Amino acid sequence: MNISGNTVFIPGATSGIGLALALALRAKGNTVIVGGRRTDLLDTIAAEHPGIDTVEIDTADPASITAAAKDVLARHPDLNVLVTMAGIMRVEDWRRPESFLATAEATVTTNLLGPIRLIAAFVEHLQAQPDATIMTVSSGLAFTPLKVTPSYNASKAAIHMLSESLRLQLAGTSVKVVELEPPSVRTALMPGQETSEFAMPLDEFVTEVVGLIEAQPDAKEIQVERVKFLRYGEARGDYDQVVATLNDADPHGK
Ligand SMILES: NC(=O)c1ccc[n+]([C@@H]2O[C@H](COP(=O)([O-])OP(=O)(O)OC[C@H]3O[C@@H](n4cnc5c(N)ncnc54)[C@H](OP(=O)(O)O)[C@@H]3O)[C@@H](O)[C@H]2O)c1
Repeated sequence: MNISGNTVFIPGATSGIGLALALALRAKGNTVIVGGRRTDLLDTIAAEHPGIDTVEIDTADPASITAAAKDVLARHPDLNVLVTMAGIMRVEDWRRPESFLATAEATVTTNLLGPIRLIAAFVEHLQAQPDATIMTVSSGLAFTPLKVTPSYNASKAAIHMLSESLRLQLAGTSVKVVELEPPSVRTALMPGQETSEFAMPLDEFVTEVVGLIEAQPDAKEIQVERVKFLRYGEARGDYDQVVATLNDADPHGK
């Protein structure tokens, strides 16, 4: 995607990577619409950042996606970029089904069904735009598993393969599919992550992402340097070592 001149909807941008990316894209000359459930944060974002539009959306709820899509497209008929950012990450213990099943279902609903339903709501509109992009958000954990979050890892691996497949189907259209693959980044995604030494500072991450989009507008995957350790273990041939290093370093596994 081009770094400027777009109209971008980011459901899942009330905090963390989504909000930082929204502000960075706004600064680069894009119209940006921020979505999420926390209306207090939406109000604050709208007040503090004139020019950023906001919309309430719960991406775990199909009716909310339909309503928000209608609202966004009525207000921004030139929308040409959808970023399926909303996600949750929770620890699960698969030795005890009563402790993980509800979490696993919620994770799949938000992290996989959410993007699927969002893409379904926007894909016809996007194909009618001269130059459009669907940006999916996977993770380094799509490629190397973190022991304590099985459903999260699986949902992100599914997003990777969905992105690969969609790119093939949409190849003859105006819609590009770009997969953002963050490493561990300092956000509130998991308890303690905002101050974790193991995670990448949020501003550094988003600066590198914007630089990559600028340098490679046709990139299929957006990979900051820090994610390549997880992303390419299998290709390098050191996968088992990468799995061990990741899980030894993780504070949630202790
Ligand atoms: N931080 C990392 O280390 C990391 C690494 C790899 C991938 N990622 C991915 O990056 C994305 C953003 O995560 P983050 O790290 O920035 O965490 P975050 O600060 O917790 O942000 C998550 C965002 O998703 C939104 N969200 C969650 N459930 C939603 C729902 N049902 N409906 C609408 N919005 C929802 C939240 O908004 P509301 O609560 O207001 O709805 C929030 O804006 C996620 O997909 C995550 O898996 C993060």
